[in-house]
Amino acid sequence: MKIFIILGTRPEIIKMSPVIRECIKKKLNFSILHTNQHYSENLDKIFFKELNLSKPKYNLNVGSGTHAEQTASILVGVEKILLKEKPEIVLVLGDTNTVLAGALATAKLHIKVGHIEAGLRSYYREMPEEINRILTDHCSDLLFAPTKKAKGILLSEGILSKNIFVTGNTVADAVFQNLKLAEKKSKILEKFHLFKRGYFLMTAHRAENVDNKGRLKEILKGAKLISKKFSLPIIYPVHPRTRKMLKKFKLKVPKDINLIEPLGYLDFLKLENNTKLILTDSGGMQEEGCIMKVPCVTLRDNTERPESIEVGSNLLSGTNSSRILKCVSKMLNKNRRWKNPFGSGKTAEKIIKIIQKDEKK
Ligand code: UD1
Ligand code: UDP
Repeated sequence: MKIFIILGTRPEIIKMSPVIRECIKKKLNFSILHTNQHYSENLDKIFFKELNLSKPKYNLNVGSGTHAEQTASILVGVEKILLKEKPEIVLVLGDTNTVLAGALATAKLHIKVGHIEAGLRSYYREMPEEINRILTDHCSDLLFAPTKKAKGILLSEGILSKNIFVTGNTVADAVFQNLKLAEKKSKILEKFHLFKRGYFLMTAHRAENVDNKGRLKEILKGAKLISKKFSLPIIYPVHPRTRKMLKKFKLKVPKDINLIEPLGYLDFLKLENNTKLILTDSGGMQEEGCIMKVPCVTLRDNTERPESIEVGSNLLSGTNSSRILKCVSKMLNKNRRWKNPFGSGKTAEKIIKIIQKDEKK
């Protein structure tokens, strides 16, 4: 059986790495195509190096562009390569433009699509990822839902039960495979003169937040309020999209917020594991906080990861600055004894077993 893995952005590289490891461990015939939707060293190559992943066989060098430009170039590029490679199954993970275009090109060639992280819904259609999730799920053959809740969503949309598998999320595998190493190797706390629980870690990069001047300004104001109230610094590894928008909107970043360049996975895991609290609009960080028992406040009005809210590791604050502060205070008063709903770190193994079983049908 020939497995073909498509990835293109930071979270896909990180969360697909356990699947790649499992393919290597089981000596499977697999190839990787990188769309290069992300291409900056610290959003791309650094993760291949740190996670010991070999160079992808194919690289589409798609880069940045409008949604149509990105999606269209990936569709054209993936189709050409799949016609040559003829794999039995293509795996995609998550909800980016890379995922939708990869899945669509594959389905149209009547090749099986396996969607990892299927069944997530924010029910907010202005979020580009929401369209990508829905369409990808509906052209997939094997849907790897992280939780029972995600499976329920897929069933409610008419997807057949026999095609849905509750596997957990590979984000947990990635955390468990790398956290010890991160704690041992990373010197990031020393580099920024930080100590355990003595800082807040923040990221914000979602288009609906950072491409909107009012929302971005309120997020910065919220961070400033938190820093003041708790007399602790905010560390903010800033996504290039946000860096670009801060410049475009001529927004001044309060001095209590330390804007730093995006970090590699090991440094970042260490920062996450030792922070007092995570402030974010990232999908993956809501999961990672929950897995690592670090409280999270999500700078959004909705989430496709409701499990984290239900177990008590996460609160939705939206972007209003005083609401952000209230949510942070509330989360800090809670205990950290919630259950991790995203799996015990065996998701990749489960996924590969399901694929192998499916091949024999
Ligand atoms: C994309 C995904 C988002 C995911 C995020 C992970 C879509 C629709 N969005 O958002 O779901 O959460 O990746 O980080 O697929 N840029 C660089 N270097 C890079 C990549 C981007 O400088 O390597 C800058 C460019 O100015 C670009 C902007 O960031 O225009 C946005 O990049 P893009 O890939 O369109 O979307 P992301 O915001 O990264
Ligand atoms: N991450 C990282 N360095 C950073 C910021 C994030 O390694 O500077 C990791 C983080 O641990 C998580 C993933 O990147 O695994 C999340 O990516 P992102 O927030 O870009 O995307 P999303 O999860 O929102 O799709």
